[in-house]
Amino acid sequence: MCGITACVADGDVVDELLTGLANLEYRGYDSSGIAVPRGDDDITVLKRAGEIDALRDAVAETTLAANIGIGHTRWSTHGAPTDANAHPHTDCTGAVSVVHNGIIENHEALRDELRERGHRFTSDTDTEVIPHLIEEGLSDGLATDEAFRRAVDRLEGSFAVVLLAAGETSLYATRRGSPLVLGLGEDRQFLASDVPSFLEFTDRVVHLEDGDVVEVDRDGYAVTDSDGAHVTREPTTVDWQPEDAERDGYEHYMLKEINEQPKALDRTIRGRIQDDGSVSLSSFPLGAFADVSDVQFVACGTSHHAALYAREHLVEQGVPAYAFRAGEYATTPAPIGENTLVVAVTQSGETADTLQSVRHAREAGARTLAVTNVVGSTAARECDDALFIRAGPEIGVAATKTFSSQVAALSLLGERIVEDVTGSPSEGHAERAAAFRRLPTDVQRVLEESPVDRLADEYRGCDAYFFIGRGVGHPVALEGALKFKEITYEHAEGFGSAQLKHGPLALVTEDTPVVAVFDGRHQGKALANVEEVRARGAPVIAIGGEGSREVRELADEFLPVPDTHPDATGVLANVQLQLVSYHVADLLGRAIDKPRNLAKSVTVE
Ligand code: F6R
Repeated sequence: MCGITACVADGDVVDELLTGLANLEYRGYDSSGIAVPRGDDDITVLKRAGEIDALRDAVAETTLAANIGIGHTRWSTHGAPTDANAHPHTDCTGAVSVVHNGIIENHEALRDELRERGHRFTSDTDTEVIPHLIEEGLSDGLATDEAFRRAVDRLEGSFAVVLLAAGETSLYATRRGSPLVLGLGEDRQFLASDVPSFLEFTDRVVHLEDGDVVEVDRDGYAVTDSDGAHVTREPTTVDWQPEDAERDGYEHYMLKEINEQPKALDRTIRGRIQDDGSVSLSSFPLGAFADVSDVQFVACGTSHHAALYAREHLVEQGVPAYAFRAGEYATTPAPIGENTLVVAVTQSGETADTLQSVRHAREAGARTLAVTNVVGSTAARECDDALFIRAGPEIGVAATKTFSSQVAALSLLGERIVEDVTGSPSEGHAERAAAFRRLPTDVQRVLEESPVDRLADEYRGCDAYFFIGRGVGHPVALEGALKFKEITYEHAEGFGSAQLKHGPLALVTEDTPVVAVFDGRHQGKALANVEEVRARGAPVIAIGGEGSREVRELADEFLPVPDTHPDATGVLANVQLQLVSYHVADLLGRAIDKPRNLAKSVTVE
């Protein structure tokens, strides 16, 4: 949510800034801008409402060139997506320019104070107070780093900020609660909200900690803490490849990422299931969870659906487990016992609601564990432990491959918890493990054989779409509906099949297709629920194991998946649903990778 990029190099950095912004567009696409110095006393800022192409066109009309600069792609929080509200923002003199991700909670008080001292503002953003505070420090005779530090000390809220000051050969940056990572190249250094911004230039990164203040020039970097004392932050190498973050010939990142699922799942599972079906998680040996009394998952959106999916197995095996929406948990947390394990499920590791829930859990004394895709993310660093899902970078705003990898990683984690808490592996654990090992191959089959494109054409343009399921079919139905509404903009809702007759059935008509997910369990009841909607004339699209004759016969349309263990069936069914959403959205001409009003990595509460 909002992407920051910055670069300092031997040569011109304007291209790097535009590339960095394009690579971060998934974090926001309301407006974008860059700032580079002009001479020693001035800064040129170019910014445009709309997508990055508008900025590219504006840059193409100039002769901008500089070896230091900052850039920003915005997802609006304060102020409409206009040119004026786009970042970078500058002070009154035009010699101080900043980009910011996060929210400055005390910006109104700071604005009033600065106005009284004669400052004039040109935007509605919370960010604009920052350059003005820095300007005051500089006019008081402070060095740039001191003025930056003094300004940051006045800010309340969550933020990552990068400063470009006229006449300076260094960039200054800090973070508190919002992500910021340093990329170390041969002859250029980068600062960005996320690694894909500079992945094609370098894979050597430094993950900054909250409170760090970093000064970066073309030769290197120095980090100090909030008191100005030097701190050591060692570089690490990320194991993502540049091509992982490219579209690779696909029309959309989403389609590429759907098709990458066999590879992603293979990485998630590799080395973590032994030949005898036992789970082997290097950070969590047998007994690692022996004292756990209950598990509380906290997560948002798609990650919450993966948590609901994982909860099924734990509860079925007798381990008390709950899956909370982090947005609500952060304000109304559940009671935490002495041995409660709180598991934060978050692809990005930066979702504000989830981080807030983790912070609450830590304060209440819970053990915390992050299940995330991003090594070095805030969740991975703030939790006691981390389990990485290894799905590779996900650029499409709609989560796809990371859901599958989350489910697979969580199912292994769940099995380890069950074994530790109950003293024995779950019943049928070997078959379940074998099904997860087969998942990459089974997903590949679904991708190759899915008849969804034909179906998408037939069912687009209906009044509404309902998704239902039981067992793990329930979280998959919720996920199917979320994906559908997110990228098609059509009305879609997901329900547990049993819920329908308690209200939602009133909405079911001949023009509301019902998509029913069968995981192979509770078949009788699930079929009866489908009969209920058929009786109201709704077309039924059923997804289930290819061998389930009754399901095939009952439905108007049947999307088969390979027959397997129910816990793996949900993942396969979800791949069909991803394809349904994708193809309908494509036919409707939607902005699939950048759905309106949304952004990946929601770093505000
Ligand atoms: C939907 C989607 C979102 C995210 C949610 C949590 O396609 O991507 O619902 O799942 O914002 O994000 P993470 O997993 O990064 O915490």
